[in-house]
Amino acid sequence: MNAAVRAVVRTAMTYGTEVYGIYRGYDGLIAGDIVKLESKDVSGIIQRGGTILQSARSNEFRTQEGREKAFNVMKTHGIEGLVTIGGDGTFTGANILHQEFGIPVMGIPGTIDNDLFGSDYTIGYDTAMNTVVEAIDKIRDTAGSHNRLFFIEVMGRDAGFIALNTGIATGAEDILIPETVTYLDDLILTLKQNKRRGKNSGIIIVAEGDDLGGAYEVAKKVKEHDSSYSTRVTVLGHIQRGGSPSVQDRVLASYLGYHAVLGLYKGLSHHMVGRINGAANYTDLSNSIKHNNEINREMLELARILSI
Ligand code: F6P
Repeated sequence: MNAAVRAVVRTAMTYGTEVYGIYRGYDGLIAGDIVKLESKDVSGIIQRGGTILQSARSNEFRTQEGREKAFNVMKTHGIEGLVTIGGDGTFTGANILHQEFGIPVMGIPGTIDNDLFGSDYTIGYDTAMNTVVEAIDKIRDTAGSHNRLFFIEVMGRDAGFIALNTGIATGAEDILIPETVTYLDDLILTLKQNKRRGKNSGIIIVAEGDDLGGAYEVAKKVKEHDSSYSTRVTVLGHIQRGGSPSVQDRVLASYLGYHAVLGLYKGLSHHMVGRINGAANYTDLSNSIKHNNEINREMLELARILSI
């Protein structure tokens, strides 16, 4: 996200527009927690995780009164357009702000879940996956040496992108995601077949939003079925949401920040900027909120075939 902030500031400045950083999201906007940003203020941040502008959930912004306060603060500062970085909640707020007050808004997709419609990738996704792969490679050593079956929970409350792609990258024996119905019997069958083929250890990746339950729940069910498995559970949790961003993420965020500003100059007023097949793409905010990025079924099949 810092790379995107940097790109927005420097692109806008290049074209003669002043930029203000709003701290703590919509809450900070309502409170007037706003600071003019110069080029030097965004120096040395591209390699830092998180966001220098911080983030917050705002209950006040959900009310018409709160949004009116926010709009008045923007008016006072002479702010004529808003760039927001985030996901569904952020974009819903931006869209309402535009509808109620006509202020042009431009969303930049920032979520490790990669589930926003209108961009091939979202900021944070690649970094999160690299963190997951590094962790699973390490866990694989214990799994293999001790003949253990590991259930590893990765983030993805509603989306299985992290699980699916890290599963392929680490050669996971099975991948459980929220987009497909998970049957315990299928998992048990896979494990049995693996045993028959002489595989005595395994990695099962469970997206936190999987319908069979989280990793603990799934491990319990497998163990109840066959107590001979030596099972272990690892929940990777918030290590997935931090750390120095990958090259892919830095470049993507820079690209999206740059095109967010250009989009506003073009007169777009309620859009999300994404990157599809390498090119900038603008999606109406209401569409980006309504639809989800769809999981690629072919990759599911590929994961199944390669895991035997
Ligand atoms: O942004 C969505 C997400 O990455 C989910 O996959 C996960 O459940 C959630 O964030 C965790 O966020 P929080 O820090 O609010 O628990």
